[in-house]
Order: sequence, then C-alpha cells, then structure tokens
Amino acid sequence: MPVQIILGAQWGDEGKGKVVDMLSENVDIVARYQGGANAGHTVCIGDKQYVLHLLPSGMFHPQITCVIGNGVVVDPKALLTEIQQLETAGITVHGRLLISHNAHLIMPYHKLLDAIREQTAQRIGTTGRGIGPAYIDKFMRVGIRIVDLLNRDVLAAKLKRNIAEKNEILTKVYGETRIDVDAIIAEYQEFDKRIDEYITDTTLYLHQALKAGKRIIAEGAQGAMLDVDHGTYPFVTSSNPTSGGACTGLGIPPTAVEGIIGVAKAYCTRVGEGPFPTEQQNPVGERLRTVGHEFGATTGRPRRCGWFDAVALQHSARVNGISRLVITKLDVLDAFDEIRVCTGYELNGKRLKGFPVDVDTLERITLIYESFEGWKTSIVNVTTYEALPPNAQKYLQALSRLTDIPLWFVSVGPRRDQSLFVI
Ligand code: GDP
Ligand code: IMO
Ligand code: MG
Repeated sequence: MPVQIILGAQWGDEGKGKVVDMLSENVDIVARYQGGANAGHTVCIGDKQYVLHLLPSGMFHPQITCVIGNGVVVDPKALLTEIQQLETAGITVHGRLLISHNAHLIMPYHKLLDAIREQTAQRIGTTGRGIGPAYIDKFMRVGIRIVDLLNRDVLAAKLKRNIAEKNEILTKVYGETRIDVDAIIAEYQEFDKRIDEYITDTTLYLHQALKAGKRIIAEGAQGAMLDVDHGTYPFVTSSNPTSGGACTGLGIPPTAVEGIIGVAKAYCTRVGEGPFPTEQQNPVGERLRTVGHEFGATTGRPRRCGWFDAVALQHSARVNGISRLVITKLDVLDAFDEIRVCTGYELNGKRLKGFPVDVDTLERITLIYESFEGWKTSIVNVTTYEALPPNAQKYLQALSRLTDIPLWFVSVGPRRDQSLFVI
C-alpha cells in the first residue's frame, strides 16, 4: 500500500510544495489529483525559488516520474509555459511527465466565463484560471478531454457545439462578444502536437507501478476548507482537495492508500472571499502577512491572516482521515509575545460539536481562544525538534493535542533542510 496523500488541511498555501518536494526524496512517483493552474506550489532549492501551478512538486528530483491525473483540469497554455520555464532552468521534464488522457482541458471560454462571473454573479475571489467553468462542463458532460485532441473532427464537432452554446450565454446573458471556433481549434491542435509525448493512460500506469511496489505521493492542491463538498461553500474551489479526491482523481482504490499527511500552517491564511473565523483584521493579521510574506503565489493577492483554528482543523482531520500532521511556517511566530489558538465555536451560548456548514452560522459564532506564550527567539537555524525553545515545543504539542493528530514534522523555513522531524 505505497500511496501517501499529502494535502492542504486549511484554506490552501500551507506549504504543500515544500513538503512534497522534501518527501519526494524517498519516492518514485508524484501525482497531482485535482485542481488546475489555480494552485501555486513554491519549492525553494538553495537560493532558487520555483512556483509550480500544474506540474507536481516532485519535478526537482530527477529520479521521479510526475503524473497529472484525470481529476486535474489542464490548461495546455499554462502547462507549456511551465514546462518551458523548468527546462530553461535546467530541469528536464521530457521523459519524466505523464498526463492522463482523460483529464479535462481548460478552454479560453472557461477563463472568460470565470472572469465575467466574478464581476456579475456572487464574487468568490477566484484565481481567474477558468477552474469553475471547466468543472461545470465536466459534470454537465460536455467537457473536452485531452483524448479529444487526437481526432481533429471529434474536437471540431465538440467545440462547435460547446461554443455555440457559450456564445448564446455570452451574448444574451452577459452582452459579451462571441468566441471564434476556428481559432481555438487551430490553437488546441498546436498544443496537442507539443503535449502529445506526455499523454497516456495514467491510471493503468499507476496500477502497474503499485503492483511493482513503487512508492507514490498523491499531491493535493488547495485545501480541505476549499473543498466543494466539505469546505466553506460557496466560497470554495470546484474540486475535492480532500483525500477522497486522490482516489477519484487518479483512479486508484482507497485500499492503496497507506498514509494521509495533512499540512497546516502554525497560523491560518485564506485568499479570496468567504468566512474565515479566526481572521485578524488588525495589526496581528498585518504582522503575520508581513513576516510570513503572505501574498498569493499564483495571483500575488495579499492573503488574509489569522490565528490557528483547531475547530476547522478537527473538521479537516475528520473528512480527510489525516494520520500525520505537518506544521509549517512556525518561524513566522518567532517574535510574537502571545500566540492564540481557536479551540471552540459557540452559538447562542452553546458549544458547537462540528464545523458549521453554512456561511450564515459562521458569521454568528463566538470564538473561544487558548493563549500561548511566545518563544521570542529565531528558530530558522534550529536543526532538531529537541533544540526548539520549550515554548515552541509546548505550542506544537498543543496543536497536536487539540487536533488529535500525531505531529510528524515541523517546518521552520522554506528550504528543504529547515525541517525538524518529531516522530
Ligand atoms: P502551497 O500552495 O501549499 O504549496 O504553499 P505556497 O507555496 O502557496 O505558500 C507557502 C509559502 O511559504 C511559500 O512561499 C514557501 O516558500 C513558504 N514556506 C514554506 N514553508 C515555510 C516555513 O516553514 N517557513 C517560512 N518562513 N516559509 C515557508
Ligand atoms: P494552492 O494549491 C489558496 C481559492 C481562491 C478562491 C477559491 C476559488 O496553492 O494551495 P478557483 O480559482 O479555484 O475557482 O478559486 O479558491 N484558491 C486558493 N487559495 N491556495 C490555492 O491553491 C488556491 N486555489 C484556489 O482564492 O477563494
Ligand atoms: Mg499556494
């Protein structure tokens, strides 16, 4: 059972890129299972920083094969740009990347509709990468899959049907100009030529790899609280970043999964609109943003910042079945006198048992906090867990206790070597 799922346990940007890259040293395959170029996974190697949107974060270990699974929505333009950027930086992608033939494609009209809906419908604060509209088409059963690129006539017929409908919507509902079918057919056929070498039946490949005893990391994008089923709906993404998504998004059975590693920051951030109970719209939040460089890796937007939310993390642990916890960015709290953790939600004087599913309730809850004393010293050069200041250890043990998940390792800086194993 050699699959380990590594996923975001909060609202995204927990440091999954760093964690996946670091743990890739001991595996054979890293596979992305959902989302698309809305993700921004940062990997720091030495003094170089790379941000990956579609390519799995295992790319920096030459022995690893990277897979983009059927659950991912692939923007070929973004993909080709990313491949080019890595190749220019001396990282070989050729021969090491496999893309599922039944992954859905992001089309230009998905991005257009994403942008228009953000202006005209309820604002979600999306990344504008066409993710929602692409998944809508997938579930409406009109999506265009990578396999459709292989046959010009099939592609043209499907595109013509889709674009006729989108043009109706664009002109009649939004008063927008129409989309040109022929230009898209030509553009996507050109993409096909350039990505053809990577396309395969990745489900079959992963099953053969499992049989051969290969070790696989399934890399999640976004985070549990952005999950379309379990997050703060409707302020979510349009896929399942939670652990179940790894099985459907790669075509692997749940019985192949050995461990589920939840990555969480030592505090919380969120980009875009939507409820964020522990948000600190005050100097504390500003300090977290400045010290933690909390600006989006994909859109550059300032991230909203707040204290660690143990109630949300308990929900995330339940939904994902997290077996081991990784806490990142502990160093960002180095200079704080006091650190707070939300340990409970109350509604009308009553303690809530679970995480509320509706935005309305989330706006009315009162938060219960536990307070911790800071360690007031830099930990970026600490090399073992035992060498962390006692207050830092106390804080970490509290996070593990409050979430009821064993702590596996702690990250105290963006580099691979700034990682301290506990168990
Ligand atoms: P992801 O989307 O989950 O991969 O996370 P992002 O890459 O969007 O954001 C995490 C940011 O924090 C990146 O800039 C990382 O380089 C950085 N980072 C990761 N771990 C640590 C850490 O332990 N300490 C600090 N200071 N930065 C970190
Ligand atoms: P990584 O993988 C943080 C957020 C957007 C928006 C909502 C819906 O780097 O953690 P979408 O474009 O997906 O339709 O936007 O989800 N969002 C993310 N927030 N990290 C991400 O990815 C995100 N991907 C999407 O800001 O609120
Ligand atoms: Mg990110």
